[in-house]
Amino acid sequence: MSKVTVVGAGNVGATTANVLVTTQVADEVVLIDIKEGVSEGKAMDIMQTANILGLQSRLVGVTNDYAKTADSDVVVITSGVPRKPGMTREELIGVNAGIVKSVTENVLKHSPNAVIICVANPMDTMTYLIHKISGLPKNRIIGMGGALDSARFKYFLSIALGANATEVEGIVIGGHGDTTMIPLTRYAAYRGVPASEYLPAEQLEKVAADTMVGGATLTKLLGTSAWYAPGAASAQMVAAVLHDQKKLISCSALLDGEYGESDLCIGVPAIIGRNGIEKIVEFDLNDAEKAAFKKSAEAVHNTNEALKAVLG
Ligand code: LAC
Repeated sequence: MSKVTVVGAGNVGATTANVLVTTQVADEVVLIDIKEGVSEGKAMDIMQTANILGLQSRLVGVTNDYAKTADSDVVVITSGVPRKPGMTREELIGVNAGIVKSVTENVLKHSPNAVIICVANPMDTMTYLIHKISGLPKNRIIGMGGALDSARFKYFLSIALGANATEVEGIVIGGHGDTTMIPLTRYAAYRGVPASEYLPAEQLEKVAADTMVGGATLTKLLGTSAWYAPGAASAQMVAAVLHDQKKLISCSALLDGEYGESDLCIGVPAIIGRNGIEKIVEFDLNDAEKAAFKKSAEAVHNTNEALKAVLG
């Protein structure tokens, strides 16, 4: 039997649970939140579609009772406050670091062997925080950002190409921030053919620029942070772990020399399977891409500095 816990029954957490259940990724999903009744209500609403959609997965909602999350194979941490229009993800650090710390401690008490997927923002820094406080093997902590950013990149690419969204390839590395993410336009492709064969350089640059502010654009339109694609990207990562898919997904991983960086979590391509991050894949970056990665890593290191208050 497979069991997944989603912590946080806000928009992203509830959508993650909904996608996990409707795509029947796990046998059992627990949605947990500190707000009385919210996770129970959302779980009930989602499970009332079971008969309509013919679902076999089971979802339960619980208020703050971590004993019910025991023995989860994968735990997705979505807790924390989302950004509002005009805010950066980095501005959330003060509030979210405390929340993510206590959630991680509670989760590991009951599921010491789980693979943890971090969604809370600022995502790279929160992923790093989980490493620091948990001491878990580095493969078992995965930050979700790159999966989402790459999905946005492929969306904008498909629009520019007039292509089916499932037939384009694109990957985003670097930090999960408006100015730190790096859509690798050189590796973008339409059915194996470089996208640069179809799109003029300016248009490809516009696709990259739209991708970088993809989250901010939605936050402005919606009045709060996005949830459908973040939820689906999180569920995609859970599926890769639970079903040992060995998928290459961009994610925030703890680096130890890869891409010339150490002691930080940042988006890199990785093979995701039952052991979490099974291998970091090192793309052959050109000089401009290397310089962009270095700059992005510096920005993430700087944001991590603010954790000192939490880590003591
Ligand atoms: C976004 C948030 C989830 O990019 O970081 O929409």
